[in-house]
Amino acid sequence: MKNNVSIGLLGLGVVGSGVVKLIENRQEELVNQLGFGVNVKRVLVRDLEKERDVQLAQTALTTDPNDVLHDPDIDVIVEVMGGIEEARQHILEAFATKKHVVTANKDLIALHGPELQDAANRNQCDLFYEASVAGGTPILRGLSDGLISDRIQQVMGIVNGTTNYILTKMDEDGVTYESALKDAQDLGFAEADPTADVEGLDAARKMVILARLAFSTNIELEDVEVTGITNIALNDFEYAKKLDYTMKLIGFAKYHDQHVEVSVQPTFISVNHPLAAVKNEYNAVFVDGEAVGSTMFYGPGAGSMATATAVMSDVIAVIKNMQLGVNGKGFVKPCVDGKLAPPDQRFGQYYIRLNVKDEVGAFATISELFNQMDISFERILQIPSSKYEQAEVILVTHKTTLKKFEESKVKLENLSVVESVESSYRVEGDGNE
Ligand code: NAP
Ligand code: HSE
Repeated sequence: MKNNVSIGLLGLGVVGSGVVKLIENRQEELVNQLGFGVNVKRVLVRDLEKERDVQLAQTALTTDPNDVLHDPDIDVIVEVMGGIEEARQHILEAFATKKHVVTANKDLIALHGPELQDAANRNQCDLFYEASVAGGTPILRGLSDGLISDRIQQVMGIVNGTTNYILTKMDEDGVTYESALKDAQDLGFAEADPTADVEGLDAARKMVILARLAFSTNIELEDVEVTGITNIALNDFEYAKKLDYTMKLIGFAKYHDQHVEVSVQPTFISVNHPLAAVKNEYNAVFVDGEAVGSTMFYGPGAGSMATATAVMSDVIAVIKNMQLGVNGKGFVKPCVDGKLAPPDQRFGQYYIRLNVKDEVGAFATISELFNQMDISFERILQIPSSKYEQAEVILVTHKTTLKKFEESKVKLENLSVVESVESSYRVEGDGNE
């Protein structure tokens, strides 16, 4: 084994620069932990002339991926360039040349994780991607090492910093969605094109990665039901407060009776639930295991140095495997052929807000409908509406199936006393199911 490990970086942006700084600043500790140093030998970038805030020999930078992927001194490729197809090709090429790969790329792992893992295994290489979910928070190793002996039942995550920041500002400062989004962009959390963040796709990709590890199943991105935060009314934040909830974009993954369900949706969370205290750009993943009970992993979901620590934890894991001669042996194939849970096997509590005619018997009619559907209420709130002869009725159900709840929404739309179904959300953390 060599006495110095060289890594090749694909990308020198926010995360790549953090990795270079961390290696530079922690060289002594790395030597202490590993017995030798780590150096960045070559770095792939798009623009050689760009000003960088890290010190690297100009000769280290290249625009030719082969200079990195085919350098015989490089043992570990760190992919922090983003995007899908080019990154996928580079990683496959890295495995073909027997190099280990660490990536922060959730988009790629969510879409092509199983294919890349197969390629890694065939070549006895490691593939690690701790930074792909919740930035600097060590959730993947928490699942795959810390909780490995347990049977995970449910994972609930706030895994997108941009949307959590926007929802926190709308909730606490009463600002509009547009103004909160602009702040998130100015502060650098949101991508220049924030569509994937606000439409829930970024969170869905992270939930796919979490669900695969938590339940040892090969769930695909198209199996995730996704609703973003672009259509939330400010009114619902007010009603949430009145009912002791707060609004969060929650990634939800559950395994029960050999069925898997994974979704991302704006959710009313009880203020007493630990996820309610996760604010601004922070991320947290709340895990329920059969043996361990409830645990929560909390931390920064993005940022240069925070994400770099997750990348470096993977690099160090690769090097330790190299020392032990066990690279590419850690991965266990998914063992659960999880079928997707149908709507009559998906249970939850729901909030629904209706505009109803303010007339005698209106509430009794609505109540009768829920009675027929065998859905009981946990909370009921009626508020005079600003609209003439109308009232807002807010109901929170006890636990019921998604199927029954969706059917009741259609039936409500057809009641003559109901002017409109204004909104509905899943409810979590009440403890009164
Ligand atoms: P970024 O700041 O945009 O940096 C991308 C880097 O890759 C740049 O140095 C760019 O070169 C280089 N690059 C991109 N496409 C290239 C190409 N086709 N050929 C050569 N070089 C190319 O991105 P980032 O924020 O560091 O994110 C990197 C990855 O980490 C993404 O997969 C992202 O999802 C993931 N991630 C990011 C964060 C975060 O906080 N930012 C957190 C978790 C995960 P130039 O510098 O020359 O333009
Ligand atoms: N845009 C992502 C977020 C960055 O807001 O969480 C980290 O993946």
